[in-house]
Amino acid sequence: MLTLLKLLKDGKFHSGQDLGAALGISRSAVWKQLQQLQGELNLAIHKVRGRGYQLSAPLELLDPALIEAQAAVSPSWPVTVLDTIDSTNAEALRLLAGGRQAPFLLLAERQTAGRGRRGRTWVSPFGENLYYSLLLRIEGGMRQVEGLSLVVGLAVVNTLRELGVVKAGLKWPNDILAEQRKLAGILLELVGDPADVCHVVIGIGINVNMQSTEEVDQQWTSMRLQSGAPVDRNHLAALLSAKLQVYLERHRREGFAAIQPEWEHNHLWQGRQVALIAGAKQIEGKVLGIDRQGALRLEVQGREQVFSGGELSLRLRDDS
Ligand code: BTN
Repeated sequence: MLTLLKLLKDGKFHSGQDLGAALGISRSAVWKQLQQLQGELNLAIHKVRGRGYQLSAPLELLDPALIEAQAAVSPSWPVTVLDTIDSTNAEALRLLAGGRQAPFLLLAERQTAGRGRRGRTWVSPFGENLYYSLLLRIEGGMRQVEGLSLVVGLAVVNTLRELGVVKAGLKWPNDILAEQRKLAGILLELVGDPADVCHVVIGIGINVNMQSTEEVDQQWTSMRLQSGAPVDRNHLAALLSAKLQVYLERHRREGFAAIQPEWEHNHLWQGRQVALIAGAKQIEGKVLGIDRQGALRLEVQGREQVFSGGELSLRLRDDS
């Protein structure tokens, strides 16, 4: 079915006969596959008598060769693009368990069970956004893991800004927002012993060209909605890899403490009144910043308290 889509991706008209000949199937089989494409991938395909079929807009698909060539990551991160997968993070971990050597980068055009933080689902429609999982081997103990997800956030924000999303910023611990709406999210999953040798999959989801969806259950935005122009996802993936490599290398050499001031500088909720939600508990306070390990520093009833942990979530207080 995706072979057919790839024939149509230029956004021009193609006759049923030509499509059938290219695929070695009948015209009615072409029509059936087109129905399936529309239904499953939510793509609009026009049919005009005498001219054939046309996608409502040209589709730019992810291209591993283009991404590798543009990213210039050294030593290289081999790129694999999957048409559809449950979750690129889950698949990266399965490949690792099957013996694949790190580092490698896995992207997908669509996820059917994209994983978000705190057990949420990451809505992942076909061909519109970036679903990016980088699998790395980490040696050197806890220091190499400390603050890692925050550093990844900085690399993402810098990438987005460079591509014209000027309002992109961070929300502790690793959400990327613009105008209080979610633009990108990060999910790190670790296997092995973080105090010794471990592997980490750095999962990044960026809303790129998505302009509408009913499925996301929180306030969201996309690069295209922010900048007003469609974004080249291959270029985005390459630039993100290049930025990640710079930040990860700095983190490896200098540790998180060296990056902490830059992180705070990009923190949108610095100095704001917030509520920190930890299960059924809610703690209210003012954001002072983060410590040298990446934990959140809050002023609670005149005293500083420090919070860390994957299950915490932060909300702005109404009066903030
Ligand atoms: C969040 O909830 O903010 C984190 C979202 C992370 C989504 C990305 S998309 C690529 C990778 N694969 C997944 O299943 N999740 C991450």
